[in-house]
Amino acid sequence: MKSTTQKKKILVTGGTGYIGSHTCVELIQSGYDVVIIDDQSNSTSASLKGIEKITGTRPEFHPFNLCESSHLDSFFKSHQTLQGVIHFAAFKAVGESVEKPLAYYRNNLISLMNLLEMMTKYEVPHLVFSSSCTVYGQPDELPVTEQAPIKKAASPYGNTKQICEEIIEDTLNANPGLQGISLRYFNPIGAHESGLIGELPAGTPNNLMPFITQTAIGLRSSLKVFGNDYDTPDGTCIRDYIHVVDLAKAHVRAIERLLEKQNKTEYEYFNLGTGKGSSVMEIIQSFERTSGQKLNYEIVARRSGDVVKIYADTQYANQELGWKAHKGLDEMTESAWNWEKKYRERQSTSK
Ligand code: UD1
Repeated sequence: MKSTTQKKKILVTGGTGYIGSHTCVELIQSGYDVVIIDDQSNSTSASLKGIEKITGTRPEFHPFNLCESSHLDSFFKSHQTLQGVIHFAAFKAVGESVEKPLAYYRNNLISLMNLLEMMTKYEVPHLVFSSSCTVYGQPDELPVTEQAPIKKAASPYGNTKQICEEIIEDTLNANPGLQGISLRYFNPIGAHESGLIGELPAGTPNNLMPFITQTAIGLRSSLKVFGNDYDTPDGTCIRDYIHVVDLAKAHVRAIERLLEKQNKTEYEYFNLGTGKGSSVMEIIQSFERTSGQKLNYEIVARRSGDVVKIYADTQYANQELGWKAHKGLDEMTESAWNWEKKYRERQSTSK
């Protein structure tokens, strides 16, 4: 039977995670019907509740790992009206990937291959893939364009993103019915303005922003700034931080772009950043400004594998995708702090 709502149905893998949950909100608010698969290895059902509170809709949710191929086959068999897939579900901790390379290759590659197999079998034509600027390594020229050469990956995690893009490209070439877009994220931070969804890493955070907010809330004693002797104005590394809500909106644009296409086109890649580089110290200063808190931090040795500076050339995404990041650094740090405080408040009152 045809859906009575006539909404376009999109599968979001990893939809209860950080970027996934923000994308579900934007999709629902743009009129899509969202179905989530997530094994919740790095997220909880709290984000489902958050999505529901923000949008008034609780997405259909299936808790399993995409590597379970028979489970995925049953899922696709019972969801024949899917029009597209946004694939976030993957392991993403750089350091852990160096310690457990096989776990990363197994999880990130097999889940993608299973997904592509099912999309082909059940004729689901559109894929948006969650990729990373890590594919560029330390680029020779900045800002980095989509044409920059793919450098040898600095970690197994980065390598899985490179290999996944190759797997997608080869699969699209072999299947005229499939189309895809890779979105190469720079450094997503911040949270939805409601404070109902945000970044909640399991265990000790690896990334800068959650480490800052967890330090400020008292969960960590101090932030370790990994090196201040780099060749940058203040000596700390430079990244292109992008508000997660801006990033989420780019996914809606990408899926729309695929749905609008009449004819099969090449696999496309887009950089998602603001085009502006900020140092670790600038993030700390922005956080102190917007939170009104002094952050406890210390300068320690460089972290191995860190690129010195990277920021995006956003022209192609701006022009071709018709998308632009609007939110500034202070909105990012303010919303991250708002989320951290509200989340901890909810935790303490629910005990
Ligand atoms: C990297 C990848 C990114 C990937 C992400 C996944 C690059 C350029 N980026 O982000 O594509 O999605 O990992 O985890 O390869 N820092 C501190 N103290 C901390 C944590 C971080 O000083 O406790 C510094 C880092 O040295 C770095 C900056 O903060 O200069 C950002 O680090 P992080 O948030 O971990 O992101 P990337 O390593 O840039």
